[in-house]
Amino acid sequence: KVAAVIMVGGPTKGTRFRPLSFNTPEPLFPLAGQPMIHHPISACKQIPNLAGIYLIGFYEEREFALYVSSISNELKVPVRYLKEDKPHGSAGALYYFRNTVMEDNPSHILLLNFDVCCSFPLPDMLEAHKRYGAMGTMLVIKVSAESANLFGELVADPSTKELLHYTEKPETFVSDLINCGVYIFTPAIFTAIQDVSTHRDDRANVSRVSSIEASQSMSRTFPIDFVRLDQDILSPLAGKRQLYTYETLDFWEQIKTPGMLLKSSGIYLAQYRITSPNLLASGDGTRNATITGDVYVHPSARVHPTAKIGPNVSISANVRVGAGVRLINCIILDDVEIMENAVVINSIVGWKSSIGKWSRVQANGDYNAKLGITILGEAVTVEDEVVVINSIVLPNKTLNVSVQDEIIL
Ligand code: GDD
Repeated sequence: KVAAVIMVGGPTKGTRFRPLSFNTPEPLFPLAGQPMIHHPISACKQIPNLAGIYLIGFYEEREFALYVSSISNELKVPVRYLKEDKPHGSAGALYYFRNTVMEDNPSHILLLNFDVCCSFPLPDMLEAHKRYGAMGTMLVIKVSAESANLFGELVADPSTKELLHYTEKPETFVSDLINCGVYIFTPAIFTAIQDVSTHRDDRANVSRVSSIEASQSMSRTFPIDFVRLDQDILSPLAGKRQLYTYETLDFWEQIKTPGMLLKSSGIYLAQYRITSPNLLASGDGTRNATITGDVYVHPSARVHPTAKIGPNVSISANVRVGAGVRLINCIILDDVEIMENAVVINSIVGWKSSIGKWSRVQANGDYNAKLGITILGEAVTVEDEVVVINSIVLPNKTLNVSVQDEIIL
């Protein structure tokens, strides 16, 4: 049997998607028409003998209650949300719920970060892991040398694929091969995490004798039950024949900014062509809008037949799109109204917002720039004939004049 764990973190990290994360936990933000964590969850379903999927985080339970019950029913696999009383770090959180995760006595544990966009080649990875016969296998990918320092950089043996060296976000370049945040472990991982806390406890006791100050600063930075998977487990265990790598040649992105949300939404929509074409709008028939490229439209949305939509557009529940509207590369969230002849390009439009007639909401589409995509927070009103370019608008604002390169507070 296999148990899957998805690390979802908590609200302290929820500031990255500002102003989109005020009311919705990041893991539930819609990506290609599905909550972000739906993508790793449905990837876990490819594994036969899946005992259950556990989401571990420190968001309030009620924020996930509805989602976990509906996805459990849909996939016919138990999906549970487990709430930590405080953050324990990416490995400490797994250890904290070890009894629950081990309930069905799984032989393997999948561990996934929630904030990556990936094809999740889990069955192939599991096969490789069994071949290596060690404690853990991590998914890795080659990225550009300039961007590698945003991730864990590593060196692997070219023939055995053993992890030889690992450094988390190093200041000087180590390697363009990086950690994708997707792992398979045997239950021995729990002993490895336990060892880190035990050693830390010992060291804290030693320094408490030698210097009260040192022990205080140590316990402030590292409580003994706070264990990070990367720095505390992967780094020290590299080169000890316990960890191996599996390189993906498929797509992989980290989703830490609204720009990357929009980019990842497009990647998953393109993936639907292969995995679930029924989710894509076709634009067939004379009563439908013109669709170009990959577009998702929620069944409850109302789109005027003269609108032109795509590529990379995702339209959520109860959205109304008026006559002559043009939408390109954007995410439109629930209950938005877009009136006649408005244009939205390279933007994310927040829940319940409204865009007036002949208005334009757009950006240059540079996913890495701070104002490269325009974001309207929840319940923003853009009045008729107003142009909003490369801007971020906080919730509940009304724009009656045009703006460019601005953050509207
Ligand atoms: N439940 C819980 N509790 N989850 C946590 C905690 C915690 O205390 N701390 C972090 N996480 C979750 C995050 O939500 C995320 O899914 C994952 O653990 C890793 O988060 P971080 O530890 O903040 O690392 P990162 O995202 O900056 O980088 C990690 O992932 C990259 C790939 O996306 C590292 O492992 C990098 O090496 C890697 O390249």
